[in-house]
Amino acid sequence: MSLHSVVLSASGLFTPPHSISNDELVVAFNQYVNNHNQQHAAEIANGTREALQESSGAFIEKASGIKSRFVMDKAGIIDPEVMRPYLPARDDEEISLQAQMGVAAAQDALARRGLQGSDIDMVLLACSNMQRAYPAVSVEIQAALGARGFAFDMNVACSSATFALQTAYNAIAVGSATRVLVVNAEICSAHLNFRDRDSHFIFGDAATAMILERADLVDDAQRGFKIRGTSLFTQFSNNIRNNFGFLNRCDPEHQFGMDKLFVQHGRKVFKEVCPAVGEHIVQHLAALNIRADDIKRFWLHQANQTMNDLIARRILGRDANKEEAPVILDRYANTSSAGSIIALHLYSDDLQSGDLGVVSSFGAGYSIGSVVLEKR
Ligand code: COA
Repeated sequence: MSLHSVVLSASGLFTPPHSISNDELVVAFNQYVNNHNQQHAAEIANGTREALQESSGAFIEKASGIKSRFVMDKAGIIDPEVMRPYLPARDDEEISLQAQMGVAAAQDALARRGLQGSDIDMVLLACSNMQRAYPAVSVEIQAALGARGFAFDMNVACSSATFALQTAYNAIAVGSATRVLVVNAEICSAHLNFRDRDSHFIFGDAATAMILERADLVDDAQRGFKIRGTSLFTQFSNNIRNNFGFLNRCDPEHQFGMDKLFVQHGRKVFKEVCPAVGEHIVQHLAALNIRADDIKRFWLHQANQTMNDLIARRILGRDANKEEAPVILDRYANTSSAGSIIALHLYSDDLQSGDLGVVSSFGAGYSIGSVVLEKR
């Protein structure tokens, strides 16, 4: 069986309407802390309850590199009495919020490529959190765009984008699809515990889309990237976990426990994931006979600036500059699967034909993925 070559021909981005700065987030958090400590002053004084500690914008920026994040609802998140986005349930006849975000990113990608929804014959929604169990949100996106063929959802947490890229690549290579739309639509603000000092600043919302096509369908004038290779890896870890699921209601006592939102042991994640990602990319490049120095750009998962600095240093043997490893987490925060694709979308136009780049995502599972791209 002969395999088809695959081109990543276009990408698209949906950025939510509201931005929250670290200072705005911290004002809300600290108000919540002060309210809580006043309310429980007697217990705190007699030692039966611990006082909550304030958060700090300076800590957040230093520890993570994040300065602000985009969200679908700001008012609820920065209300110290609420501290979660207000995203009212919609009628079943209306498009769902996640599909709406995905469609917006997809339309951006389709317009850049000059295609219609009906040109697509496979749709993947790949992200950390699906808005519902079924019908698959990807099928709703497929219908909204008028795409043909089939669609399915897949979840590999923050690594979902690279896992979906490999899935789409394989489908086109063997001939089960010709044009695949990969959507990463993340409503991370809804899985984040805005009352948890250790993590309240980490995430933001966003959606990205990519179009992958059989190479012979893409004329020479169309830019984009040849896919040179993909590589995935998983290893079980409890250090990033979210126990939300359909069994929660079968244990009403713990149904709304904090573990039903994002929780992590940040230090352990940091120590274990950085070397593993560095090694993964080094080995992937070696397998393709590509020298690290020949890579013009690293579109890395956008979770933490220090993590990305360490990973780039492991690969290059020196510090990467901002052109080599562009940063979007300063203004988007961690948008889970969308992060590396936002970086790709915003920082690839300047590359020349033949230039090489690596998309890499990593996160819960643990999961690590890398995709090597060559500019057409
Ligand atoms: N404001 C002020 N101080 C805070 C704080 C906040 N919001 N949160 C924690 N601190 C304090 C802690 O209490 C601790 O104080 P101590 O030294 O007196 O005990 C100190 O800051 C360091 O806390 P720590 O949790 O060790 O911070 P860190 O340097 O590891 O940074 C993360 C925290 C989450 C930014 C970092 O661990 C990280 O990014 N890990 C990678 C994991 C990741 O991003 N995963 C996402 C999925 S891929």
